[in-house]
Amino acid sequence: MAAVLIVGAQWGDEGKGKVVDYLAQSFDVVARYSGGHNAGHTVIFNGHRFILQLIPCGILRPGKLAVIGAGVVVDPAALVAEMDALSKAGYDATGRLFLSNRAHLIFPYHRQMEIAAEAARGASKIGTTSRGIGPTYEDKMSRRGLRVCDLMNTACFREKLGRLAAEKDAICRAAFGKPLEISGIVEQYEKYGERLRPFVADTSALLNRMIAEGKRVLLEGAQGTMLDIDHGTYPFVTSSNSTAGGACTGLGLPPHSITGVAGITKAYTTRVGGGPFPTEMPDLEARDLRERGKEFGAVTGRPRRCGWLDLAMLRYAVQINGIDSLVVTKLDVFDAQREIQVCTGYRYKGTPLTEMPPDVETLENVTPEYRTLPGWMAPTSGLKDPGALPGAARDYLKFISDALGVEIGMISTGPEREATFLLPGTKLASWL
Ligand code: GDP
Ligand code: IMO
Ligand code: MG
Repeated sequence: MAAVLIVGAQWGDEGKGKVVDYLAQSFDVVARYSGGHNAGHTVIFNGHRFILQLIPCGILRPGKLAVIGAGVVVDPAALVAEMDALSKAGYDATGRLFLSNRAHLIFPYHRQMEIAAEAARGASKIGTTSRGIGPTYEDKMSRRGLRVCDLMNTACFREKLGRLAAEKDAICRAAFGKPLEISGIVEQYEKYGERLRPFVADTSALLNRMIAEGKRVLLEGAQGTMLDIDHGTYPFVTSSNSTAGGACTGLGLPPHSITGVAGITKAYTTRVGGGPFPTEMPDLEARDLRERGKEFGAVTGRPRRCGWLDLAMLRYAVQINGIDSLVVTKLDVFDAQREIQVCTGYRYKGTPLTEMPPDVETLENVTPEYRTLPGWMAPTSGLKDPGALPGAARDYLKFISDALGVEIGMISTGPEREATFLLPGTKLASWL
């Protein structure tokens, strides 16, 4: 296996951080390909809890390399803060972290513009993480963004940023009646530039070289399939390709180098922010699940919306990403659930849908069709042995696997590193 991809199959927060941390022990390098510090990947072991936003979770495994690819948007302040926090905890990034020279930079004005734009949308706001992610990708696509390589070129950086800031200031004044917050940013970014210089590399060359040498690469997705800019619930999405294709473009890796795709799903569904959510639970039920699953945003602390598992959505995620193996997390959250509902498909105006609707208006009005399965009413929390899974839990997993035609390769039964097990004989187990 050259490169194995870990991708969120839902709306993010599926437990990718935990899964990547577990698998990283069998790989040489872990690489992030999209998004920015809108991501929050939780890893818990030995009583320590880390929430990684930009740096791949592999950094927590001694000796492993970590790559931030060209498809990631980087706020240098956030990156430096994360490096400092990790270093304090005993995880120094020196010689292990590589930042793409092609990654785009987030500036404070991106954040300022995003906050103003969200306020202007009123009730139809996206509910973004306010990290400046969207406006940075806008600048990238409109070919006026600045990249890490620009930050490294001290002779030109000041002039390039000055020109861009003048344009942004004019837009900001015209659109929001406010001047741009720009004072001191050139000096500040020059300092970040010098701090980051030893980490900057051509990460595509690095990864391709490592693959040619037979090294093992783990690709860490951020966000999830339904937050993908092209395939998600647009416009309630993030601004990058969080799906499998994004791994090739975001890292400069050829498609054939990706030899396995694992899709991560919770045993139920959550989403943060606005947008359609067909299997969303009524308030009271959602509140109960939210408490049991501790469903509060790792980055923003916002309560996550909760709902039943949606096989229509997962079928779509399998199709878009080419998922070979599923990882089901948070099984333990259902330990005290008497009955479990699973959405097997959607109807729209009485007609069964065979494809995922592209528009919010349709998706908001689909009727999910549910199957009710018995809960197991027994503790799976912290379980490590697949043989010890209660029968009803096994039936639930088999139902999911049969409906999707995809194996379940790994189960997670608690937030800690150890509460994870691989299912023997699966493709996923063979990749390690
Ligand atoms: P990510 O963004 O996909 O990495 O996921 P997050 O870290 O944002 O959210 C997942 C949350 O669920 C974190 O608080 C994890 O510690 C927690 N978690 C992950 N797997 C499990 C599990 O199997 N059971 C329980 N109870 N919690 C889990
Ligand atoms: P991880 O990697 C869950 C959501 C935001 C918002 C929308 C757009 O931890 O799974 P953005 O700031 O990206 O412009 O916000 O996307 N969102 C996430 N939701 N997990 C994430 O990342 C997310 N990253 C962005 O809540 O609805
Ligand atoms: Mg998260």
